[in-house]
Amino acid sequence: MNLRSDDGIVDAAAGAAPGYNAVMAEVSSKKNTASLTRTPAWRALAAHQRTWQERRLRDLFAADPQRFERFSFEACGLLLDYSKNLIVPETLELLLALAQERGLQDQIRDLLAGKRVNTTEKRAAWHTALRAGQAAPREVRNTLAAMRKLATALRDGKITGGDGRTITDVVSLGIGGSALGPALAAEACAPEANSPRVHFVTAPGEKLERTLVRLNAESTLFIIQSKSFSTQETLLSAQAAKAWLLSSTGAGNGGAHFAAVTAKTEAALAFGVPAERIFPVWDWVGGRYSLWSAVGLPAMIAMGADAFDELLAGAADMDAHFAAAPPEKNMAVLLALIGLWHANFFAMGSRAVIPYVPGLAKLPGYLQQLEMESLGKRVSSRGKTLKQHTGVALWGNTGPECQHSFFQLLHQGTQAIPVDFIACCAPRDQGSRDADAIQPVMLANCFAQSALLMSGVSATETEQSLLQKGNSARESARLAPHQALPGNRPSNTLLLSALNPRSLGALLALYEHRTFVQSTIWGINAFDQWGVEHGKRLAGSLLPEFTAAAPATTHDASTDGLVNYVKTKTFKPF
Ligand code: F6P
Repeated sequence: MNLRSDDGIVDAAAGAAPGYNAVMAEVSSKKNTASLTRTPAWRALAAHQRTWQERRLRDLFAADPQRFERFSFEACGLLLDYSKNLIVPETLELLLALAQERGLQDQIRDLLAGKRVNTTEKRAAWHTALRAGQAAPREVRNTLAAMRKLATALRDGKITGGDGRTITDVVSLGIGGSALGPALAAEACAPEANSPRVHFVTAPGEKLERTLVRLNAESTLFIIQSKSFSTQETLLSAQAAKAWLLSSTGAGNGGAHFAAVTAKTEAALAFGVPAERIFPVWDWVGGRYSLWSAVGLPAMIAMGADAFDELLAGAADMDAHFAAAPPEKNMAVLLALIGLWHANFFAMGSRAVIPYVPGLAKLPGYLQQLEMESLGKRVSSRGKTLKQHTGVALWGNTGPECQHSFFQLLHQGTQAIPVDFIACCAPRDQGSRDADAIQPVMLANCFAQSALLMSGVSATETEQSLLQKGNSARESARLAPHQALPGNRPSNTLLLSALNPRSLGALLALYEHRTFVQSTIWGINAFDQWGVEHGKRLAGSLLPEFTAAAPATTHDASTDGLVNYVKTKTFKPF
């Protein structure tokens, strides 16, 4: 596949559409296509899992004082401690053998070379090209330069609205992959951005109204972020923004208050966005992988173009590590394989991501889309129903919040849920008395949780401690089962030196590659999302039912019944 021309990128869809078989041949000629659960490595892992009935993590730590050194390493400024997982060296050998059997290295090469790894949509998933610096395609570099120009001018107060007033507020209108990444990056890297202030509105209605009520139309710029320029929620917000601008005194030329990031230039022009304010997204950039493209424009405005370059550079560092590090020292590969081990062989059907970093509050939501849209698949790339589970449910929150809510279930619930803990060695605003005082509390709590999940507290230990506190033998025996913790619950800890654009870029690219590795082992396409597309389409076809005079009759009885109930009870035709 050739995505480049002398002038930059050639739209893959512009050429003759390749047949499905040709696409499959392009990306899978070297990979093992045998059913995953019948491969020798899978069977060996299943046998190895049975040896885990009696193994306890706390005993493994006691027996091997080097376990941390053995199962931790640093790459791209991140330290990964994976010692608290249900692994011994043999486990990793078998998992790495599985990766080899599935042709992982070849598939990583295909991904990074821009081959059409998205086989159902016959596209590349070449987000790594967006952060390749001078090696990026010309079109990418040109777009970054145009983004820099606008972001810098906005930050310098040189962009004015229709009546000549300086733009002080930027409102990003987008949803899903067209919002989650830039909102996360802006909050993580520019929490106090006020020149201009950057707001993110994902859903039309109340949130938009609450944002607009604080703004002046004359000094507000809207960025419509929609690759397809057809997402209902985003278009409704954009239309509401346009109406607000036009009805506000002095808003003047509405076009001066809009920019757009989209693959559908014509639609953005028709909406009234000036051509020079339309930034392209290419079909080989998936929504959930698009932070690095012009979709990152609001984040660039919030943090500054140099900081955005650092974000890209951090991601590029991780790409280089992913491409070159041997599998046994490759962070994304290890995280993916260990995650798969817990999911497939221990039936752990969800996992939590817990950052003890206030600036990463939006990370779990971002990763939910990245992983669950990518890995929520039940057939292989070849369309065969899979025999093993694939993506698990991902959830989480910042440590200080969730430690006092759902951690009880992590410690003593009936199911083990693997956790990724994320923390920073130093606070963002190092030198500030508050931040320096808070940081050790963050780290102590973070490390305590993972230690406890790993070791647990046995009933005997609990009983002894109750006795020592002066409880009677009978009372101690009664309370011990309630206070004991099972332990043996796996977790990773990822330590960043500090939260900054570079470390954030590396962290997000790490999770992207973790996702890709799992999709490769499972043999699924990580880059389509047909379930979501069906949902969007059905919502579109239901919409007219609410205003139709006749009752809904063409859907299932429940859906028709719900629509008709709303119409008769509360709905006012618009
Ligand atoms: O929700 C599904 C989805 O297609 C995501 O993959 C995408 O990020 C989001 O919708 C927004 O799409 P668009 O950028 O086309 O508005």
